[in-house]
Amino acid sequence: MRFYLTTPIYYVNSTPSIGNAYTTSIGDMLVRHQRQRGADAFYLTGVDEHATKVWRVAQEQGLDAQEYADRIAVPWRELAPRMNAEVDFFIRTSDEGHKTFVREFLQRMYDNGDVYQDVYAGWYCVGCEEFKTEEELTEDGLCSIHLTKPEWIEEKNWFFRLSAYQERLLELYDTRPDFVLPDFRYNEARSFIAGGLRDFSISRAGQPWGIPLPWDESQVAYVWADALVNYLSALTYARPGEDLRDRYWPAVHHLLGKDILRFHCVYWPAMLFSAGYEPPQQLFVHGYLLLDDRKISKSLGNAIDPLDLVDVYGADAVRYWMARAVSFGRDGSVSIDGIRERYENELANDLGNLLSRTTAMVAQYRSGSLRRGDAEPPLDLDALGADVGERLDRFDVTGALDAVWEGVRGLNQYVNAEAPWQLAKDEANAARLDGVLYNLVDGLTALAVALSPFLPETGPSILEALRQESDLSWDRVRNGVAAEVDGIAAAKPLFPKIELPPADAA
Ligand code: MSP
Repeated sequence: MRFYLTTPIYYVNSTPSIGNAYTTSIGDMLVRHQRQRGADAFYLTGVDEHATKVWRVAQEQGLDAQEYADRIAVPWRELAPRMNAEVDFFIRTSDEGHKTFVREFLQRMYDNGDVYQDVYAGWYCVGCEEFKTEEELTEDGLCSIHLTKPEWIEEKNWFFRLSAYQERLLELYDTRPDFVLPDFRYNEARSFIAGGLRDFSISRAGQPWGIPLPWDESQVAYVWADALVNYLSALTYARPGEDLRDRYWPAVHHLLGKDILRFHCVYWPAMLFSAGYEPPQQLFVHGYLLLDDRKISKSLGNAIDPLDLVDVYGADAVRYWMARAVSFGRDGSVSIDGIRERYENELANDLGNLLSRTTAMVAQYRSGSLRRGDAEPPLDLDALGADVGERLDRFDVTGALDAVWEGVRGLNQYVNAEAPWQLAKDEANAARLDGVLYNLVDGLTALAVALSPFLPETGPSILEALRQESDLSWDRVRNGVAAEVDGIAAAKPLFPKIELPPADAA
């Protein structure tokens, strides 16, 4: 089983935003989970450097574009580790390996007769890095996303014959109903194709920043014709001396925000057809995190620095909040108070207290020794494992985490209903008390394994506190997995209380 997952590569005109941290963290949850199931997985993220907007920021700062990109790549490379995300390769589009591969790829499209020269005269939004038709603009002629006036461009460019691929794309969609998820995004992409496709420009004239076309060095590749190819180019040089294309292509799943659906769901498969490659296996299009009903974004001025949140709450808590606050795939409003509430009520209380109580009771009533005893387990963990796995196969990250959390709440209800502190008062209940304590540790062990893709630091800490094996394989999400152990001691709080300054002191 192979599972290759990609995030979009992010524009480096500024530092990472919460939206970028969102895609990177959720992608990490999916990859970690597939690894637990034994998949040979590869996770790719990185940065998109050859954008006009990047070049302009460099100029404003009086820097050469490459020098600017080198400097800003540092915080971008840090994003994944700061979010507790483990990536297998971090690509930069200024990598030599990428540049060489893009030229080869575009040459193949050219050799295939799919590229011709024409004049582009029309609008270009630098915020979107996208050519815009009149119909796509607002009544006042503004970009509907950035609410800024696009630039009028008239230049001789090289065009890709996208229109020639309409039938093949429709056939792809019709034979693979799960090519794009969720369904409503599949429908959106398919109707865009069915509505007729216009050829698009794959080069830019008069811009020094970018990858020169192999057959016309006076032009550079249009930033999207360069960036999309990263998903394939990375496999050719991520591991020196190894070509990972045979291993991971086309077992690729692309994660992307809804703003870049057309590029990924329409242009990219057509470019792959033209260059003689298989289309990706699947694309998952997610929604936006919104603040006051607007997309959270630097250009809209309502940005939140994800690393500020990590500094206060820790990466696991921020990941938890992102996965739960908004149903993955949909847009959803978030609030900064929301993270605090979830930290206190769910992470510290539901989960943290459950571990503290359980370990404290085993320590106090059984001198730290766990024995199987005699009591029915409260949760069917086999069913939970199957349900969560099936949801994650469909990228239903929020539903999967909700289901695991139901398990956490179920164990809390169990401990309250069984009241081990009452059982401990009478020696006649000894076997039953052992059984209840075992069920709590057993349930927590399975839940820790199930939680570990979402909370990669917390899951293993729970196993350690319970003195259980650190193995995170998915077949450990079942009943009766906990080993009889000795030496369980009262655990330290998983999510300690956070003292924040009063709001008006900020
Ligand atoms: N460089 C292109 C992508 C090229 S991929 C071949 C790009 N970059 S971007 O920096 O603008 O990042 C876009 C991605 O960031 C979105 O697709 C999405 O994954 C994520 N998000 C940015 N803001 C977001 C929200 N407010 N909410 C959720 N995700 C958003 O487009």
